[in-house]
Amino acid sequence: MASTPYSSSSSMKLLLFMVPLIIIAGLVSVLGPNPSNWILIQNPPLSWTSQNVVAVDFHHSLFNQSSTPPISIQPIIDQQLGNKDKENLNGSQIVPNNTNSMNESHILQEKQNLPRKFSILDRTEAGLLQARAAIRKAKNGNQTQDIDYVPTGPMYHNPNSFHRSYLEMEKQFKVYVYEEGELPVFHNGPCKNIYSIEGNFIHTIEMNDQFRTKDPEKAHVFFLPFSVAMMVQFVYIRDTHDFGPIKKTVKDYINVVSEKYPFWNRSLGADHFMLACHDWGPETSKAVPNLFKNSIRALCNANTSEAFKPTKDVSIPEINLRFGTTHGYLGGPSPSKRSLLAFYAGGLHGPIRPILLEHWENKDEDIQVHKYLPKGVSYYDMLRKSKFCLCPSGYEVASPRVVEAIYTGCVPVLISDHYVPPFNDVLNWKSFSVEVSVKDIPNLKKILTSISPRQYIRMQRRVGNIRKHFEVNSPPKRFDVFHMILHSIWLRRLNFRVQDDQ
Ligand SMILES: *[C@@H]1O[C@H](CO)[C@@H](O)[C@H](O)[C@H]1NC(C)=O
Ligand SMILES: *[C@@H]1O[C@H](CO)[C@@H](O)[C@H](O)[C@H]1NC(C)=O
Ligand SMILES: *[C@@H]1O[C@H](CO)[C@@H](O)[C@H](O)[C@H]1NC(C)=O
Ligand SMILES: *[C@@H]1O[C@H](CO)[C@@H](O)[C@H](O)[C@H]1NC(C)=O
Ligand SMILES: *[C@@H]1O[C@H](CO)[C@@H](O)[C@H](O)[C@H]1NC(C)=O
Ligand SMILES: *[C@@H]1O[C@H](CO)[C@@H](O)[C@H](O)[C@H]1NC(C)=O
Repeated sequence: MASTPYSSSSSMKLLLFMVPLIIIAGLVSVLGPNPSNWILIQNPPLSWTSQNVVAVDFHHSLFNQSSTPPISIQPIIDQQLGNKDKENLNGSQIVPNNTNSMNESHILQEKQNLPRKFSILDRTEAGLLQARAAIRKAKNGNQTQDIDYVPTGPMYHNPNSFHRSYLEMEKQFKVYVYEEGELPVFHNGPCKNIYSIEGNFIHTIEMNDQFRTKDPEKAHVFFLPFSVAMMVQFVYIRDTHDFGPIKKTVKDYINVVSEKYPFWNRSLGADHFMLACHDWGPETSKAVPNLFKNSIRALCNANTSEAFKPTKDVSIPEINLRFGTTHGYLGGPSPSKRSLLAFYAGGLHGPIRPILLEHWENKDEDIQVHKYLPKGVSYYDMLRKSKFCLCPSGYEVASPRVVEAIYTGCVPVLISDHYVPPFNDVLNWKSFSVEVSVKDIPNLKKILTSISPRQYIRMQRRVGNIRKHFEVNSPPKRFDVFHMILHSIWLRRLNFRVQDDQ
């Protein structure tokens, strides 16, 4: 585990970690049959190993498709409706053979007119079908009213689609939380410090009446409620570097729920999800091949070089809550009161930070890069004094600095490779953050000073606008981090449909 205090000052006990970058987007678009539309797919296609899981022609098209490779997965392509699509619930041809029909309402209607009896699962899937159609339609439609918040502006790949998708989630999304498993490793997790999102999510979903269902038949997704951080504390044997006990815990758990309920076997895990912020989350998911390959993994360490798949997995933010709440962290002065160009303080973890220190430590008044903050200097004051906050990856891609910057109104500068930033399925990170590749570290000052004051003011304002999506509330509030994580999972679930055994 990578955690050391990065300040010599005892008042400053922040832990160092890496920043997770997630690149996931969510506007709905339909790829045409022309392979050149999807040739940009960077990761090997997914293939679910269950016959009961059928990819659907729905994409995370909240992306700006002209600048971002389409998020897509092979089964989706193979199953272009009406093209090579052989999916049907037996007894009835659900999908018309009509070669160019993409009209889901039509499909839905056919389905509703069918004489056969529908299972609960059919009904659930019909709801998803409707949601996909509504989201697609919203892409070019009008804004929807909302008493709390209407997403709008360049911070979103497509604000209307996001809003519609969010509303559809609120209307129907149901999560079943397995009740098996005992404290402290299950149904529990840290609510403080850098892995706080593990505990916060577990507790929030378990207490949630809106999204949690006690009837697994009605669920869209199934949550495996373990905490990797807790397993490291209670199951892992210190200093052994042996993942065995942690993996065995997960394996045993999945054995239990797959014996007791039909759901894991039905989809081979595709409609199941785990959530982990700890560095060892990705490794833990390897405990069961289908968990790694099929399930939705919500991870802080969203490293695409370590098999993080933006179409299937979800990047969640690492949020360092030293006292368990955001109280005192939120807010910062306007751009004119930010005298420093850029700031970083932290240890030399991982490969990127030494390069940053080498080029910028004590080199330039405007770019304050420190291994340790001088005694008596407050880390949070420095964030609030700076225009840009540098967020280099450490041992892992995820870093709590990104959210610290967002909380304090400092424009984050992501310095990382292979990182998919949180909620990239919805958020257009380019509009409110700066991405600097490792090789451009020597040009940091040039890059930051080339951003005009006007452009900076816009970016800084957008940071304030998207802050709500990173806030931790108890109880949760609409559009906050809990709901955004749930929404990312909802979007992944829209990518496929599950059918009963035939
Ligand atoms: C999408 O990307 C293109 C090309 O990179 C750019 O010109 C356009 O402004 C972008 N649109 C949005 C909504 O970001
Ligand atoms: C559907 O059921 C019919 C008989 O009810 C059977 O002949 C046919 O092979 C089945 N199709 C599939 C794809 O299972
Ligand atoms: C989709 O199908 C419905 C019902 O058949 C029809 O009313 C509607 O006009 C169709 N929409 C499109 C875009 O073809
Ligand atoms: C969008 O709003 C305009 C003006 O209010 C209206 O004319 C149009 O019909 C609306 N479009 C949709 C799809 O609701
Ligand atoms: C699920 O599959 C496993 C392994 O094939 C089997 O042992 C288990 O009994 C199955 N579960 C159910 C509920 O049938
Ligand atoms: C991301 O994964 C690659 C491949 O395992 C690894 O080399 C790299 O160090 C990882 N990045 C971080 C910041 O951990």
